[in-house]
Amino acid sequence: MSQPPVITPLDEQDTTSFQIVGSRKERPASEQNPSRREFLQKGLSIAGWGALFACAAGGTYQTVRFFFPSVVFHPPSVFQIGRLEDFLSTGQPDAHGVILVEDRFKQEHRFFVVREPARIYALFARCTHLGCTVNWFSNLRIFKCPCHGSEFHSDGREFAGPAPRPLDRLKISLDTEGNLLVDTSVVYTAQEFEAKKAYIEIG
Ligand code: FES
Repeated sequence: MSQPPVITPLDEQDTTSFQIVGSRKERPASEQNPSRREFLQKGLSIAGWGALFACAAGGTYQTVRFFFPSVVFHPPSVFQIGRLEDFLSTGQPDAHGVILVEDRFKQEHRFFVVREPARIYALFARCTHLGCTVNWFSNLRIFKCPCHGSEFHSDGREFAGPAPRPLDRLKISLDTEGNLLVDTSVVYTAQEFEAKKAYIEIG
């Protein structure tokens, strides 16, 4: 509501002359408090940008999930080799207690999977003499090194040639979903097989 003009006398002695010294006219509400208006504008602007970024982030997340679905990532040295059931065998243990030597991982990952009646472990295919890659001869049930002729039983123990000790083993474990994992960065020598539990027990 507008205020009435203020009328004051021109001369304090002359009370017959007056002047209008001003009228207080109310400004529109939008002009009353510019700082409040600016604050609201900034707030709306920030909210708008926030919503835009939220939409963009949501879209990016969905895109990443599309191209990279939920899978378990392992370090590059850890390989999932299957499940225990994949290494079942009805064969009888040989003279060294080994039922099965699986050599399909040798070419790419340089290890063998060895199955005994109550255990499974990963033998490192690196000769313990000077490091050549050994081969498995299933008909003879031995590993042989092509470099200087070292030979190893099916359980990895050396018995001929210059190799000074059994083949090493790699860390083997089961993940929470029952998959067998072999970590080629963790190597155990024969003295550590039991202490480090370089095998998986089969119940
Ligand atoms: S490297 Fe295998 S016997 Fe020498």
